[in-house]
This record gives sequence, structure tokens and C-alpha cells, in this order.
Amino acid sequence: MSTDKPELPTDAELAEMSRDDLVKLGAKLDGVELVEYPDPWPVKGTRAEKRAERLVALWFLIAAIAGFGFVGVFLFWPSAYVAPNTEGYLMYSLFTPMLGATLGLSVLGVGIGALLYTKKFVPHEVAVQQRHDGGSSEVDKQTILAELADAGNRSTIARRSLIKRTAGLGAGAMGLGVGVFALGGLVRDPWAQTESKDSLWHTGWMSPTGERTFLRRATGNPHEVVLVSPNDLDTGSIETVFPFRKSEDDHEALSKALKRSDNPVMLIRMRPADAAQVVKAQGQEDFNYGDYYAYTKICSHLGCPTSLYEQRTNRILCPCHQSQFDALQYAKPIFGPATRKLAQLPIAVDEETGYFYARSDFIEPVGPAFWERRS
Ligand code: FES
Repeated sequence: MSTDKPELPTDAELAEMSRDDLVKLGAKLDGVELVEYPDPWPVKGTRAEKRAERLVALWFLIAAIAGFGFVGVFLFWPSAYVAPNTEGYLMYSLFTPMLGATLGLSVLGVGIGALLYTKKFVPHEVAVQQRHDGGSSEVDKQTILAELADAGNRSTIARRSLIKRTAGLGAGAMGLGVGVFALGGLVRDPWAQTESKDSLWHTGWMSPTGERTFLRRATGNPHEVVLVSPNDLDTGSIETVFPFRKSEDDHEALSKALKRSDNPVMLIRMRPADAAQVVKAQGQEDFNYGDYYAYTKICSHLGCPTSLYEQRTNRILCPCHQSQFDALQYAKPIFGPATRKLAQLPIAVDEETGYFYARSDFIEPVGPAFWERRS
């Protein structure tokens, strides 16, 4: 390998040099010796070359179809919650897997297409290069640009319109799939696929007919209905409860009430001494029943279940990002990233049965979701 430094061309000579000349000069200036620089397809138009081109195009096409598929799934696939064992369950439950499968296939298609193109059409030269210190001179910059352009030229991308078009289509569709995340919410009507147009504006605690909605204990058995009365909780303890209406005492409605994400409520029986010092939220002064307070279990930060109640400090804790809510101050956040209080459910006791019931739905947003906001 020669290590002699070639003579630098003048500006005028540089301007006159062809791309081939610049490539050779660049290699020399960098102390690079091109040991092998074979043309991947020395005989043009062979069957093998066409087969390779079609293979690359096929992967870009797969990427394009999958990218458009992702957009289609995102915009049109039904995505509302449907209880297991009910009609259409399979279709609804496939929404998320279909999003993953289509976007994944699109990214994979672009990746494999690019890899195959590089493997089949970009020259695989063998070069030996001397390393040197310092920044690049103007000559170096121009020659490296020429080398890159030459590599593109030798890979024959300019005349492979099938590959260029399918690569553009595949990458474009994949980009569209990624972009739909940002724009989809502006296009897709979030109410269109819910059972009732306004179901995102209330929780399962709202009684559509005015029938009483009782507090049902979470026993682990979806078919077992155990209502809660004031004698059921020890002081300083909590109970997770869900809505129950007598007219909905069937398998589907019972399961659904347990699974609706904004239904879980934490019923707290405070110690009498603590209950006496509770500061109540404005407009919610009568939402409690004696020492009993009911708050949503859905954290106002990102919606994790706020399942921990520390009896000694009267704090409700969210395990996800350590937000803490003070039960002595209407469950307002006092630590962590949450900025809104936990929604409080107004409760009372049914005179006839002695069980707790919800006097109405929540009157404020539950959890962090935008769609739950009422104003
Ligand atoms: S979801 Fe509760 S603190 Fe983040």
C-alpha cells in the first residue's frame, strides 16, 4: 500500500474533476487503497438482478400495505370495551394487537427492504485506510461527498424506479402510521364507538333510570353480590367497592361493572378523632356519610389504582409515581406528580335496606383522562 501524499489540485483543477477523479483523489488523500471495488451486477439486466430488485420492492410494498393497514385500524377498528363472552368481544379485543402487528410489520418491511438493497446493490468494496488526526479540509469534504454520490450511483438506485417508488411508499406509509398517533385523536370521534354517545361523560355510578346504585364489595367472584353497610368496616379500614343496581343483576352487567375502568371506589371509614378534623371540599360538604368517605381509586396523575391507605397519617398513596393524597383534606394531592384531588363520590345509606348507595355520579373528572372532563 502506498502512503505517499498525492499533490493537491488547485481550485480550478478541482472544479474540473469528474466524480471518478474525485473518488480516486479522495481515497488517496485519506491514505485509502481500494483493494476490491466490484460492481454488484457487472452484467446488467440478468434474471438474478431483476429477482433481487423485485425482492427489495416486495418488502417495501409490504411495509406500505402494513402502514396503511395501521392507519385503517387506528381510525376504523372498533375499540370500545366489551365484556368477555359477549358478542363482538374478539373483534374489540383485537384492536391493540392489530395496531402493534401492522405498525411492527411496516417498520420491519422498511428495515428488511433497506438491508436487502444494501446487500444486493451497494458495492462491497474492500479498502485499507490510514488514520490521521485533526479536522477535514475542503478537499476532503468534497471528495467524501463525491464518494458517497458515487456509491449511490454505482448502486444503480437512480435507474431502479421500482425500488425507489416502493421504498418511498413503504417509508411514507410507515411515517403516516407514526404520525396518526399525533393526529388521530383530532380525526377519530371518540364517542362514535361507545354504546351511548355520552357514556364518556359519566361513570358506572350514574343511574340511567334513577334507580339506586349500591356500593358492592369486590369479593373476587364477579357473580357474587355483597353490598356494604356501615357496620361492615372497622374504623381506619378501607373497602374497594363497585356500582350495583338491582335491575342489572345478570352475568354481563355484573362483569361489566367490575371492569369499567372508572368504577372502582375506595370506601374509607376514618377514625372518629380524624373524621372530626376533616376539611371538606367546597360544594362537597355533605358527600360523606358520618365517618365514611368514598373516593375514586383512579389516580388523577396517570390513572393507576390508588390502592394504599395509610391509616396512621390518613394518606392515600399511589404506587405508580408515589403521589400522596390527604384524606383529612378532601383527598387533595400533597406529594408527588398528581395535581388534582381524587374525585369524591357522594354516599348515603338506604333507609330500607341499611346499605350504602351513591347519591349521584361523581361531579368532577375521574382520573387523568381528557375525555372525562366535564368542563
Ligand atoms: S399514576 Fe398515580 S402518581 Fe402517577
